[in-house]
Amino acid sequence: MITNVTEFEAIAKEKLPKMVYDYYASGAEDEWTLKENRNAFSRILFRPRILVDVSKIDLTTTVLGYKISMPIMIAPTGMLKMAHPEGELATARAASAASTIMILSSSSTCSVDEVASTGPGIRFFQLYMLKDRNVVARLVKRVERAGFKAIALTVDRPFLGRREVDIKNRFTLPPHLTFKNFEGLDLGKLDKIDDSGPVSYGPKQFDPDIERSLNWKDVKWLQTITSLPILLKGVLTAEDARLAVEAGAAGIIVSNHGARQLDYVPATISALEEVVKAAQGRVPVFLDGGVRRGTDVFKAMALGASGVFVGRPVVFSLAADGEAGVRKVLEMLHDEFELTMALSGCRSLKEITRDHVVTDWDRPR
Ligand code: FNR
Repeated sequence: MITNVTEFEAIAKEKLPKMVYDYYASGAEDEWTLKENRNAFSRILFRPRILVDVSKIDLTTTVLGYKISMPIMIAPTGMLKMAHPEGELATARAASAASTIMILSSSSTCSVDEVASTGPGIRFFQLYMLKDRNVVARLVKRVERAGFKAIALTVDRPFLGRREVDIKNRFTLPPHLTFKNFEGLDLGKLDKIDDSGPVSYGPKQFDPDIERSLNWKDVKWLQTITSLPILLKGVLTAEDARLAVEAGAAGIIVSNHGARQLDYVPATISALEEVVKAAQGRVPVFLDGGVRRGTDVFKAMALGASGVFVGRPVVFSLAADGEAGVRKVLEMLHDEFELTMALSGCRSLKEITRDHVVTDWDRPR
């Protein structure tokens, strides 16, 4: 019997081909940041308040104006049909059933239209900037027409990080799957925008279409081709948080790409507070990376996050049990978070304050 979200990983590992499991599980180089994304949460402790009437607890929140059931959402992860034949469709259905937001990856194996056809739901689209801006413009139109509500521009991947297991396994997308969002968009030779290893391995050239010159001007350009709000995904410093606000971002996602890009960056939960302070409440700040427990969600909220996104637990639960697995992950995180709120004396998200946690960088009280 599964009692917490991390238990899905062992089941997924058993079910999936080694190449696929390794691709989902791995981080860059020494995987120091991969471990630190988890370890840093364990160094934050609670200062719970007692004798608060917690008979009613409200987890609902609003993200970019959309009301959702809880501040726990689904991060974009590539190529979900490798995990389960229903891939992104099952994931979208589970997100809708839980009344939360899913961000669909650029590297998805189902198109935005297919995902939209699963029924109503609030969905954002994760964008990798491509060299060919015409393709980007057409893709963004497709995203808008499919009813997606925002774009999360990933800004931490001008080059792929080195994931050494993918190099060893010569990771490639299985031949029966394709990057569905790019079909019919005149992509010329584009057939690889996936999220695995560096250019130097595998039978095909890697990532030839990703824009390596991506910079702040492109963020401005993106605003000229769409009226959708733009979140910047991959901010880790106060400096960049200020620039993001100045560039007109509608929100910031503090992320280190699940520790798959630059190794030895801090855990996202350690970087969160400086970004929150720099944003000064002008835009919402979200976090992803290592969120596995309701207590992790609470800690992120206490340090100023407006919500969190979850990556690998969704992928592994999808592999283990399809839509039901993803539903279960969302339900378990919901219930754990609710319990954490109750045991800390918080009845609503706004009652969660900085004083409810103590971190290793706080001065002794
Ligand atoms: C990712 N991530 C990611 N990010 C993105 O912007 N576009 C993408 O296509 C992908 N693909 C992807 C695949 C896999 C297998 C993983 C594990 C991650 C990063 C993802 O959105 C998110 O930042 C992290 O997954 C969050 O960390 P956790 O929850 O996996 O620890």
